[in-house]
Amino acid sequence: MLIKRTRGWELPERLVTPESVALGRRAAMAGGGAILAGTLAPSAARAQADADPTAKFYPARRNDTYGVPTPMTTEKLATTYNNFYEFGSHKNIWREAQKLPIRPWTIKIGGLVEKPIEISFDELIAKMPLEERVHRFRCVETWSMIVPWSGFPMKALVEFAKPLGSAKFVEMKTLSRPSIMPGQREFWYPWPYTDGLAIDEATHDLAFIATGLYGKPIPRQNGAPLRLVTPWKYGFKQVKSIVSIDFTDKRPVSFWEKLLPTEYGFWANVNPQVGHPRWSQATEKLLGSDARIPTLLYNGYAEWVAGLYEGRKSEKLFM
Ligand code: MTE
Repeated sequence: MLIKRTRGWELPERLVTPESVALGRRAAMAGGGAILAGTLAPSAARAQADADPTAKFYPARRNDTYGVPTPMTTEKLATTYNNFYEFGSHKNIWREAQKLPIRPWTIKIGGLVEKPIEISFDELIAKMPLEERVHRFRCVETWSMIVPWSGFPMKALVEFAKPLGSAKFVEMKTLSRPSIMPGQREFWYPWPYTDGLAIDEATHDLAFIATGLYGKPIPRQNGAPLRLVTPWKYGFKQVKSIVSIDFTDKRPVSFWEKLLPTEYGFWANVNPQVGHPRWSQATEKLLGSDARIPTLLYNGYAEWVAGLYEGRKSEKLFM
């Protein structure tokens, strides 16, 4: 994001899945996960799904409350064009990310809560109401995608955590493991990757914890075993591979805000009229497409989330 900005439209031709394959994949999804896993998934993803104890939870029931935007980005693109700086500051980290150990995986919930909790991912997911949602995703770098996440509303996790009334924010952090994450040996970054939400954002029904993608457990490069999805905010808010969730009365300072406070802030809501200091946010490039399309206020989710910011007009809501 900061060091080298490779654009979505610079994708090599070999990564672009033909439309016929993409359509076939969508048809397979509608028909059920067994067909999907059996015929169309890349073999590596299939092996991961087979070995994963949570594979049985997918595909989850589709919730279309927030619409089902189209065209769906191909699975191949969404899982091979990634930002995961722990594995390198370029988009092609998916192979390197296979080194991420996702079992056992423990999540620590603490800070301003009734009682701190440590829970394994497999135990947590079994308690959560799983569903699938197709959302737009907009990176601050101006590429975008439309993908089917599976997981649970973050508010279910907040309820499980039982925060105290004094908790105003939630801070989430990614695993710290420099021995397997080469990026974490680059000392100028403020590791671990951290970001957060205000409590009313975290308990808004649109805030989502993704544990699956394309009807299967989420791949490592996309943030296995669990990551944040806030479709109305820029992608950098959406912390991958979460190991800690802390409730606090102080606004968390995120990874990017620590690194470049003049360019990245806390709220990071998508707004085509508020440019990044170095480039415009008016349009975006959908992965796999040649055309630029207009970016939407709150990435198209204004009718549901604009109200969250009514009393916050004096804040820098769009950086
Ligand atoms: N989470 C961690 N831990 N490390 C990262 O580098 N990158 C962020 C976000 N979450 C990042 C992260 C950015 S800048 C984006 S755009 C999205 O992840 C990319 O998500 P994707 O790779 O699933 O498309």
